[in-house]
Amino acid sequence: MSGNHNAHEKVEKNIGLMAVLIAVVVSFGGLAEIVPLMYQAEAIEPLPGVEPYPALELAGRDVYVREGCYNCHSQMVRTLRFESERYGHYSLAGESVYDRPFQWGSKRTGPDLARVGGRYSDDWHRVHLINPRDVVPESNMPAYPWLATRTVDRDQVAHRMRALQGIGDPYTDEDIAQAPEAVAGKTELDAVVAYLQGLGRHAPQAGEAP
Ligand code: HEC
Repeated sequence: MSGNHNAHEKVEKNIGLMAVLIAVVVSFGGLAEIVPLMYQAEAIEPLPGVEPYPALELAGRDVYVREGCYNCHSQMVRTLRFESERYGHYSLAGESVYDRPFQWGSKRTGPDLARVGGRYSDDWHRVHLINPRDVVPESNMPAYPWLATRTVDRDQVAHRMRALQGIGDPYTDEDIAQAPEAVAGKTELDAVVAYLQGLGRHAPQAGEAP
């Protein structure tokens, strides 16, 4: 078996070659974990009732991303008892099929927002976003007063829906045609609040099998 022995020695003495071979071996492990997920229905198909964001919520989501809310807020309840006791049912992949890019995250300076919809009134959110300290005195969340004065860009929303339709989101042409009307006269604050109030809408109820 001296041939084998030589090959082994060659690899051990050539760090470049060894690095390449290590990368090949490690990526087999990665592929074995990741590839099956790409074909698993529960990871790639929407849960029953999950639909693409309506125009106003989509506009709100864009503001959420622009303002970097994800720097402090995750949108993924983990499968741990204390998480589901605090926030609600743990997050399922099928809830975020139309989230592009997804907002799961892991950085939590503030609470997870995956289940925040309906927890507070619209008015609470408005006051909170304009100045968090008005409702939560000890809050260190930044204030976003400009959201109340900026109006949603009507044409942008339709363009974005068209782009999402192009990559497979089931928006109808009618949805897109009606989008500018749906957001007409709305402020970015209206849009973010609509978006926040929709979060968790499709979550399974506690105790319900996913
Ligand atoms: C610098 C970190 C930080 C950023 C950025 C931030 N937040 Fe917060 N957020 C917090 C903290 C801390 C709290 C908890 C205190 C409070 O309620 O104000 C909070 C609370 C919240 C709550 C209430 C959640 C609950 O369950 O009580 C909402 C809703 C919220 N933030 C939305 C947003 C939105 C929308 C943005 C972006 C426009 C944003 N946050 C940006 C830190 C942040």
